[in-house]
Amino acid sequence: MKLFIDDANVKEIRRLIDLYPIDGVTTNPTILSKTGRNPIEVLKEIREIIGPEKTIFAQAIPVEAKAIIRDAHAIVKLLSENTIVKIPSIPEGFKAIRMLKEEGIHTCGTVVYTPLQAYLAAKAGADYVAPYVNRIDNMGYDGVQVVQKIQDILTLHNFDTEILAASFKNSNQVLALCEYGIGAATCAPSVIDAFVKNIAIDGAVNDFINDFAKAAGEGKTMYDLI
Ligand code: E4P
Repeated sequence: MKLFIDDANVKEIRRLIDLYPIDGVTTNPTILSKTGRNPIEVLKEIREIIGPEKTIFAQAIPVEAKAIIRDAHAIVKLLSENTIVKIPSIPEGFKAIRMLKEEGIHTCGTVVYTPLQAYLAAKAGADYVAPYVNRIDNMGYDGVQVVQKIQDILTLHNFDTEILAASFKNSNQVLALCEYGIGAATCAPSVIDAFVKNIAIDGAVNDFINDFAKAAGEGKTMYDLI
């Protein structure tokens, strides 16, 4: 499962890219607006931080196919290779996804709440579909089950499209989908940190440090002794 950072805070992106095996960064208009900065400057800075190899997702703003395609061209020009254009999974969005596929521009059908919406985005040629796990949970449905159903449909119909599961609020939601073998998850920094936030882990690491100090002296490492 690929793992993306669902945030545009450049300080947090630097921290996470440095620590974790991250595949890239996903954004949406809301995430960009939360930075309080010019969205184009933020996207350019994210590309500089993650380098040309990792993937960045940026969303087209319009809801009419011709204008979505114009935004897609602008986004790809700005962020170059390894850029995925997020497009709302609505009728005009499917049209834009289909036309962009013919041009070789990579897309993600976003704002996915239902399996058939994902089916249409995949059939139109989207590289990814992005279902919103926690938002679906908040509507009284089971977000994880909806994503599993989407995965079953993609597999059954031999689509190349991968799932980019999004809108997570806790690591258990991610775990359930990681176990199911979905293609990618995008998580806020706090959710990624929560993968390893556990007093048992911290306790075990501290025990090793303290036990080695007893054997070799306070603060000593292997390097100091060899
Ligand atoms: C990603 O594609 C979504 O835009 C994002 O994960 C939504 O997250 P939220 O439900 O926390 O706003």
